[in-house]
Amino acid sequence: MTARAQAFIADRVAPESWVIDATLGAGRDCLFLARQLGERGRVFAFDIQSEAIRLGQQRLLQAGLLARVEWIADCHSQIHKHLQGHPIAAAMFNLGYLPGGDKTITTTPTSSLQALQQCLDLLHPGGGVSIIAYTGHPGGQQEADAVQDWANRLPRQDYSLACHQPKGAKAAPLLLCIERKGVRSRF
Ligand SMILES: C[S@@+](CC[C@H](N)C(=O)[O-])C[C@H]1O[C@@H](n2cnc3c(N)ncnc32)[C@H](O)[C@@H]1O
Repeated sequence: MTARAQAFIADRVAPESWVIDATLGAGRDCLFLARQLGERGRVFAFDIQSEAIRLGQQRLLQAGLLARVEWIADCHSQIHKHLQGHPIAAAMFNLGYLPGGDKTITTTPTSSLQALQQCLDLLHPGGGVSIIAYTGHPGGQQEADAVQDWANRLPRQDYSLACHQPKGAKAAPLLLCIERKGVRSRF
């Protein structure tokens, strides 16, 4: 699922792109995003937990890519405040709780939907947003349903939507890939 989300995003990012990791966590997606960029590209990485910022910085430092990331200890519902209208090529959402951390601190439908809408408002034509929603923890299924409902209501003339969920598996995660239609402009 992560590999599929990353492949979708990789196709939409250029070396100078600005991209968002809306749920930094342990920093795996952040590292992936930073590796897609060159010196002029930037990842804006959000998390509400200082532990996630610490883990992410440690991972990126080890990879020698610390300088490609803006570390933002804030709720992703504040994306508009930090990006100030700058266009983005991609955003990744990996909803739920920090693995190995406090399982009661999870993403919530209200702020996740606010953040998703803000990312779409900043997205270039040809850019993409990936969302992985887990359904096995308390509130996870409700959040996955809310995100799926929101995505299903996006205007089809402006956005394409692909949904993936393994059939038959109990509490299977959901992957949504949203692309803004249109000719790719400068990233
Ligand atoms: C499943 S983890 C992300 C995993 C991460 N993408 C990785 O590659 O390691 C979800 C993260 O979302 C963070 N989170 C929860 N609510 C948030 C919010 N409102 N804004 C930003 N991050 C949030 C949690 O603190 C947690 O670290």
